[in-house]
Formats: sequence, structure tokens, C-alpha cells
Amino acid sequence: MARILTGIQSTGTPHLGNLLGAIIPAIQLSKENNNQSLFFIADLHSFTTIREANKIKENTYATAAAWLAFGFDSEKNIFYRQSDIPEVCELAWYLSCFAKFSRLQLAHSFKEKLDRIKDINTGLFTYPILMAADILLYDANIVPVGKDQIQHLEITRDIASSLNHFFPNTLVLPETKIDERVMIVPGTDGQKMSKSYNNMINIFLDDKKLRKQIMSIKTDSTNIEDPKDYKSCNVFNLYKLLANKNQVNELKSKYINGGYGYGNAKQELFELICINYKSQREMFMYLIQNPKIIEQELKEGAKKAREIARNVLARVRKNVGY
Ligand code: ADP
Ligand code: TRP
Repeated sequence: MARILTGIQSTGTPHLGNLLGAIIPAIQLSKENNNQSLFFIADLHSFTTIREANKIKENTYATAAAWLAFGFDSEKNIFYRQSDIPEVCELAWYLSCFAKFSRLQLAHSFKEKLDRIKDINTGLFTYPILMAADILLYDANIVPVGKDQIQHLEITRDIASSLNHFFPNTLVLPETKIDERVMIVPGTDGQKMSKSYNNMINIFLDDKKLRKQIMSIKTDSTNIEDPKDYKSCNVFNLYKLLANKNQVNELKSKYINGGYGYGNAKQELFELICINYKSQREMFMYLIQNPKIIEQELKEGAKKAREIARNVLARVRKNVGY
């Protein structure tokens, strides 16, 4: 039985890019087969940047609520919080003794942070080692991730092979699974939607705030009466990710025919989000207001995850000589 595992950092409330690019496809994958999937909230990774205790909790709950609201089946699968499994830190240490300094220095995500963040802590540098431990601690076979994470997976495989070279049959090498159908979701300014660019659409906001975010999408200054170029329009590009074919064609005609303003298009996008995600938005709200339910889910998941983790760590300890 193949074991699928993936994680998502809890750095805020998941935005539309996280949902369409990571959460929804991962949930889909977990439904498509009979395998058990492990999904976790990487709250130790978030600690590389978050400096407020209540934020760690808040973000974890928001991330968990998003997964659950979008229908992740926590009975069939294992849904847990990274920090509930301390074994991961011990494994990370063993792995760090096989992780090449020069290789970590070349990681794109680290280099990108070097350019952007003033005070780089060592946790940001060793981030891929902890990620390798997340994966190797559960003998995961398949790791579905976005394209930006491919290099981290390569590092994981390299570290595991090096350790196995000295201590044979200790770690299971995972395969990366990139879903080519997964799109890059543009933000309100047309760049990739990201927490770092502050160009997000957060579908879990209340109607008023969500509408305000959508109304802030950048558009050009074509007059209402003139035909508009739908291909380069940020509103259209978001709409087409969420709408069915007929809806897309209808909006296309409105752009081409003219006499239709960007404000109207934004209103249509807002309404589409409200309709498509009605039940998920309600469920998210319910869970956020009842964090005990989330806490219970995560505790149950941690029990199941920890059992696997303990067994794998026992094998590692034995093989390496502890
Ligand atoms: P952010 O850039 O907002 O900090 P993360 O790096 O935490 O997002 O990404 C979490 C997951 O969501 C990753 O798997 C990533 O590939 C996916 N993701 C993030 N932004 C987008 C986007 N704009 N389009 C598609 N997928 C995205
Ligand atoms: N680095 C991943 C991201 O930012 C999150 C993550 C942490 C992860 N550990 C993982 C993903 C293990 C897959 C497997 O999206």
C-alpha cells in the first residue's frame, strides 16, 4: 500500500491560491484511491517566521478548518499537527548530519528568503531538513506538492540515500507527485497569489470584506463602452479558474462586446465565489467558532501519526547504533 503524505505551513488563513493549488487537489487525490493519506499542518516550519504565540495557534486552526471545510476525511486518513509529534525533531537531527551545507545554500526557496528577509535565522536555512524528516518519519512513498517544492523533495531523497549508504535499509525514498493540472492562481495584482505579496483573496472572509478584496483587483483603464481584452484581465483570469465553460464563454462575450465594466465583472466573480463555496465558507466559520472540534480532530490524528512515527524512529535508532 502506497503511503501518501503532504503538509502545508500554517502561516495564515489559506487563500484561494493555496486552496486551488494545494488543498483541493490533495483532497481530491486522497479520495481517488484506497490509500491512507497523511496530511499535516507544518506549524514547526511556521515558527521560522512567526513571533507571536497566539498567531501560531490561530493559524493552525485556520489551516485545519480550511482542510476540514473542503471535505478532508480525517477518519479514513491521518490529519495531524507537526508539533504534536516530537519524534520529527530527533529524526531531523540525524538527517542534518547527512545534509550537505553547500546543497542547502543553493536551495531556491532559501536564496529567495535571503533576498527578502533581513534577519535570516538558521531555521530558515535548515527548513528542508525538517521537511525531509516530516516525510521520512512516516515511510511516505508519494508526496504531492506544488512545483516550488520539487527541490525540497530532491534534497529529501539525497539525504535519505546518503544515510542509507552507511546504514542500509533505514529510510524509504519518496517520489514527488506534481499534479500538472494544478494551476498557478494569480493574485489581485496579477502576480502569483501569495501571502508574501499581499495580493490575496481570502474566501473565508465575511461577504463585505471578501467583496472589498475582489473590488481591489487591478484592472486597466479601458472605458466601460469599449471592448476589453479578457486574456490580460486579472478578474477574468480568476473567474475562469472557478467558472464552468458556459459561464466563461458568457463573460468572454461581455468583454468582447463592450458596454460592460470591470466593476460588473468583479461583482460576478464575487457572486461566483459565494455560490461555489457557500457550504465550505459556512463550515469554516463554524469550526473557527468551535476550536475544540479542531483540537479534537488533531489530537486523534496525532495518536495515529505518532504510532507510525515511533516505529520508524525505533528502526532508525537501531540501525544507526543508538
Ligand atoms: P504563500 O506563497 O502564500 O506563502 P505557501 O508557499 O505557503 O503560500 O504555499 C502553500 C501551498 O500552496 C504550496 O503547495 C504552494 O504550491 C501552493 N500555492 C501557493 N500559492 C499558490 C498560487 N498562487 N497558485 C497555486 N498554488 C499556490
Ligand atoms: N514546505 C512545504 C510548503 O511550504 C510545507 C511542508 C513542510 C511539506 N513539510 C512538508 C510539504 C512535507 C510536503 C511534505 O508548502
